[in-house]
Amino acid sequence: MLKNSTLLLFLSLGLLSCKKSETRDCDDAISLYSNSSFPIGVAIESYDMLDGTRNKEIIDRQFNSFTPENIFKPNSLHPEENTFNWPEADQMLDYALSQNKRFHGHTLLWHNQLPLWMENFQGNSAEWEAMLKTHIQTICHHFKGKVKAWDVLNEAFNEDGSLRNSIWKQHIGASYIEKAFVFAHEADPEAILFYNDFNLALNDKKRDAVVSLIRNLKQRNIPIHGIGLQMHISIYYPSNVVIASAMKEFYQLGLKVHLSELDISLNPRGLDIELTDKLLQKQAQKMYSVSLLYQQIPKAYQYGITFWGHSDVHSWIPSFFGREDYPLLFDANYKAKPMYCKFLESL
Ligand code: XIL
Repeated sequence: MLKNSTLLLFLSLGLLSCKKSETRDCDDAISLYSNSSFPIGVAIESYDMLDGTRNKEIIDRQFNSFTPENIFKPNSLHPEENTFNWPEADQMLDYALSQNKRFHGHTLLWHNQLPLWMENFQGNSAEWEAMLKTHIQTICHHFKGKVKAWDVLNEAFNEDGSLRNSIWKQHIGASYIEKAFVFAHEADPEAILFYNDFNLALNDKKRDAVVSLIRNLKQRNIPIHGIGLQMHISIYYPSNVVIASAMKEFYQLGLKVHLSELDISLNPRGLDIELTDKLLQKQAQKMYSVSLLYQQIPKAYQYGITFWGHSDVHSWIPSFFGREDYPLLFDANYKAKPMYCKFLESL
């Protein structure tokens, strides 16, 4: 059952959106983060930091939190069993810190983007556990004091709410999850530790499974402090009511809520589409609603909103899913879209 307060908020959002359906032009010389009471992040690649580029100008001006889009994933950071690839990662992190940006570590564990040696690792469950521990602790030690928050585990659940049969589950068992959080905490007791996943608003079976896992971990004092709702959403779904209640469910567990990979698809079904102003306005409106809903979360639980890239030309969606799409704040010519303007207006 939805609480009255959630319903009221939804109704008021509906009224607001009727009143404000036209997006005013806005000036992207303004900075999003300096107008915001919560951190605003972006996923970046090394090339985004190149001097003199529009990419660098945008990431520097608009965002105050960076998430590495790929180079902190296991295949990139830990390519061979005894080799860690620090230089590129250090360079990105040092750049972020020199610009006073927060740096969000993504991701210690996943089932994708694993190095071959890890997938093919031979050993009994104790040896797998030792390998997992070395992987997590070497990375957390290396970045200790600089990377203050980590996605410890990414996407551990299937859509039906069952636990994904990843190499970690196969070789260590379901307890790999709590072990991963404990290992990270041992290596850096100050770090804020997140579980990150997609469709947690849209899919209530999956959300229920994650909620019960987290409840269980918390009851046993396993260190977990935040939830990453990836929020690869679309202009059609999930509804605002569902987004609001998912966020509420997680902060009521005492977790910081990170909208960790936000993009808003215009074409989730991969049809032939025409990019119309109407679609862009719908996207702007969705952004506006998501931002207002996020701001309803009590301050202590607002870790921030991170976009999965800044301009449509670099979004992962068209290449990964093989479809035409325009899910981000800036267009392919680096011009601020209505989504940007409406987000700014919501702050
Ligand atoms: C994506 C990157 O954006 C792509 O460049 C890469 O090819 C695949 O991974 N969920 C996550 C992110 O947690 O790490 C993924 O990033 C997108 C889905």
